[in-house]
Amino acid sequence: MCVIERFYNSLARYSTQDLGYNNNYIKKWGESVKEFTESSLKKFNGKDDKSVYIAYKGKVYDATGSKLWKTGTHMNTHISGRDLTAEISAAPHNESMLERLSVIGTYREDPQDERVPTWLNNILEAHPTLKRHPHPISVHLPLAFMMGSSLFALIFLFFGHKSFESTSFYLFTAGLISTIPAIFTGLFTWWLNYKLSPSIHIKLKIIFTILVDLDALILLYMRLNNPSILSSIHTTPHTSTYIYLILILLLTPLTTVIGYNGGELAFPTKK
Ligand code: HEM
Ligand code: HEM
Repeated sequence: MCVIERFYNSLARYSTQDLGYNNNYIKKWGESVKEFTESSLKKFNGKDDKSVYIAYKGKVYDATGSKLWKTGTHMNTHISGRDLTAEISAAPHNESMLERLSVIGTYREDPQDERVPTWLNNILEAHPTLKRHPHPISVHLPLAFMMGSSLFALIFLFFGHKSFESTSFYLFTAGLISTIPAIFTGLFTWWLNYKLSPSIHIKLKIIFTILVDLDALILLYMRLNNPSILSSIHTTPHTSTYIYLILILLLTPLTTVIGYNGGELAFPTKK
C-alpha cells in the first residue's frame, strides 16, 4: 500500500467517522463500485458461489461474513441474491441494521422484458405488488376450502349431523370455483417471473391442479345427482357412498402437493 493510498483511506475513515456518517459509502483506494442487475445478483445467494449479497434501495450489501445470513437465507425466510427492499416491513428491525454490512455495488432491475407488452409493463411498474403477489394471495381460498371439505366430511362421520355434510359439499364447490383465479394467477406468475420454465415443481402443480379439479367435478356431479349420497352412510351405504367419501378425503393430499410444490418454487429448500 503506497503512502498516498494509506493517506486517502485514513482520511476517508476519519472524515466519515467525525461527521457521523456511515463509512460504507466511501470506497477504499482502487476499489470500484460494481453494478448489479436482477439477473447478475441472483447467483450471490450463498450456494454455489459462497458470497451472500443482498440488494436494498438501489445498493448491494455484502452479508457473506454475517452469521445471520450464512446459509444464504436470513431467518429461514429472506433469500439473498435478490432485492429485499419490499421485505424489510416483515422485519422486527429497521433498515439501520444494513449499516452493519458494507456496500459493494449498486442495483437496478433488469431492463424491460421484451415479452411484456408496454401497457402491462406500465401497470406493473405503477403497482409492483401485482408482479408476484396475486398468486400467493388467491391460493389461500382453494387450499382452505378443499381441506375444509375433507375436514367437515370427517366431522359429519363422527357427529352425524346433516349440516356438517352440507358444509363439506359447499366447501368443495367453493374450492372448485376458487381454483379458477388461482390457475389464472399461477399461469401469469409462471409466465412473468419464471419465463414458463418447465421445472418438475411446475409440472407437478399443473398435474395435481387438474386432478383436484377433476375430483371436485366428479364430487359435484355425484352429490347433485344424489343429495343423500354421504348421509346414507349412517343408514344404507352403497359403493358410491364410499367412493364419494374417498374422493372428498383425497382433496386434502392433492391440494397439499400443489401447495408444497408452489412453496418449493417460491422458497426453495434445496441446498
Ligand atoms: C422475518 C423477517 C426478519 C426477521 C425476523 C429478522 C430478524 C433479525 C434479527 C433478530 C437480527 C439480529 C439483530 C441484532 O443483532 O440485534 C437481524 C439482523 C439483520 N437483519 Fe434481519 N430480520 C428480518 C428481515 C430482514 C430483511 C428483509 C433484511 C434485509 C433487507 C434484513 C437484514 C438484516 C441485517 C443486514 C442484519 C444484521 C446482520 C449482522 O449483524 O450480521 N433482515 N435480523
Ligand atoms: C396450473 C396452475 C398453476 C400454476 C401454473 C402455478 C404456478 C405457481 C408458481 C410459478 C408459483 C411460484 C410463485 C412465486 O415464486 O412467487 C406458485 C406458488 C404457489 N402456488 Fe401455484 N400454480 C398453479 C395453481 C395453484 C393452485 C390451484 C394452488 C392451490 C390450491 C396453488 C398453490 C400455490 C402455493 C401455496 C404457492 C406458494 C406461494 C408462496 O408462498 O409464495 N397453485 N404457483
